[in-house]
Amino acid sequence: MYNLTNDFLSSYFSNPTAIVALIAALLLYKFLSRRYRRLPPLPIGWVVAYLSLHLIETLLPEPFAAENPELAKWITVGAIIFLNFAIVRLLFAVCVDFWYHWRRKGIFPTITRDVILAGCYLVIVFVVLRTRGGVNLISLVTTSAVLTAVIGFAAQNTLGNLFAGLSLQMEKPYNVGDWISYGENTGQVVGIGWNATKLRTFDDEIIIVPNLDITKAVLKNFSRPSKRHVMKIEIGLDYNTPPNYARGVLLQALHDDQRVVQDPPPQVRVLQYADFAITYQLRFAYNDYGTWPMLRGEIMNNLWYALKRARISIPFPVRDVRLHHVERRVDLARRERENEAIRANIDATPMLTPLSASERELIARKMRVQDYGQREVVVKQGEAGDSMYILHRGACDVVVKSGDSPEMVVATLTPPAFFGEMSLLTGEPRTATVRAKEDSRLFAIHKELFAEILQKDPKISEQLAKALARRQDETAAKLGKQREDEAAAASKLLARIRTFFGVS
Ligand code: CMP
Repeated sequence: MYNLTNDFLSSYFSNPTAIVALIAALLLYKFLSRRYRRLPPLPIGWVVAYLSLHLIETLLPEPFAAENPELAKWITVGAIIFLNFAIVRLLFAVCVDFWYHWRRKGIFPTITRDVILAGCYLVIVFVVLRTRGGVNLISLVTTSAVLTAVIGFAAQNTLGNLFAGLSLQMEKPYNVGDWISYGENTGQVVGIGWNATKLRTFDDEIIIVPNLDITKAVLKNFSRPSKRHVMKIEIGLDYNTPPNYARGVLLQALHDDQRVVQDPPPQVRVLQYADFAITYQLRFAYNDYGTWPMLRGEIMNNLWYALKRARISIPFPVRDVRLHHVERRVDLARRERENEAIRANIDATPMLTPLSASERELIARKMRVQDYGQREVVVKQGEAGDSMYILHRGACDVVVKSGDSPEMVVATLTPPAFFGEMSLLTGEPRTATVRAKEDSRLFAIHKELFAEILQKDPKISEQLAKALARRQDETAAKLGKQREDEAAAASKLLARIRTFFGVS
């Protein structure tokens, strides 16, 4: 059949110019299909090989062919072999590759495809050599024990990898895109070949692992059965901090990070009473192993801020030994300098300017300075609030989530803005989430202190009522909700604040 096809095609394609044009057209298509992904990648390599040999066949002068019959015969045999390869490859592409892609929306396993094609090619070579070349490869291989042994020996490793690759394709312990770890190597699978699997590591290195090695090793797949993975972080905290308080602070830090899965809930355990610290272990789930190093770094980073705000120290031996004896005085002087800076900042806050110097001094003593790292949540929408904040340094986003629609940034606050007053004034849950846009320093004013401030100066209530009405109006406008007259809303709020705090 193949010979007939060859004879049939040869009779039609005997014009060298037409053959050259066809080769050029095919090569152009190959080039274009690589550049423009919309063109289907047709396997035309064997067709080009066949046409090239056929071109030589047609260009061979008659007298030369008559003088060298053997050469002419082998060129024809080669052409027939390539033509048959091309037919098989194209049939496979149409019947298997496209069908598989269309039905299963995936790529046919490369190793299985290569093995099937290699089997077909082998049969073609045997048949064509036998019928057209007069060579019987089967008897050659079976009778030559040495040749068989050499081929067998040389192919030992390759065959081992090939079969390992086949078993990997059938069992599918991992797919392209999965994060796996084998021995000391961890990486994302970027390709599974018939000989080896390619991994890309966290350091952007490519590791090529022979399939045989992978089937022999203990393999961990971080992307199966789901992409969810558990991270453990250990941290040592001060012996003077009660463990339940410390656990609460650590859990809150995990709770505030959007990337930490909340179901199952994160856990914090006391791991051991070590030499200088109580070691805690944080365990939480997250959704993509590929983000592991970055997420861990950011959580460790945010823990520092959360612990600092909660006044929990991360002890280290050298400091504990020196602090008691030598550095106490130095520490006191440093704290005094810090307090002076805080007083200067309070004096510069417009909201507090109506207050007298002694009243501002009271605030400086009673409020708390809190540092927040970038992306940390200061207040969360829907939660109860017992403090308001003055932004001293950095910037914070005010984010509102309404129903199923995605989060929306309604304002970005910069110093000396304040926020968190709405909950305190209305007693209702937080109307928005406020998240540090960059590292920020805040002054937290607790409810009782806030009440004291309002008692001291009625002008502050008016200022706050106006700001509250303006913010409610801005948020309503951004969310496309019904808006109220700002002045009317402000006077209603002022009356409410006065009754709530008993201010005249
Ligand atoms: P509260 O509701 O207690 O907590 C979230 C805070 O975000 C809120 O108080 C306001 O201080 C602040 N906030 C809400 N909407 C806006 C807005 N449109 N502009 C500026 N700040 C806002």
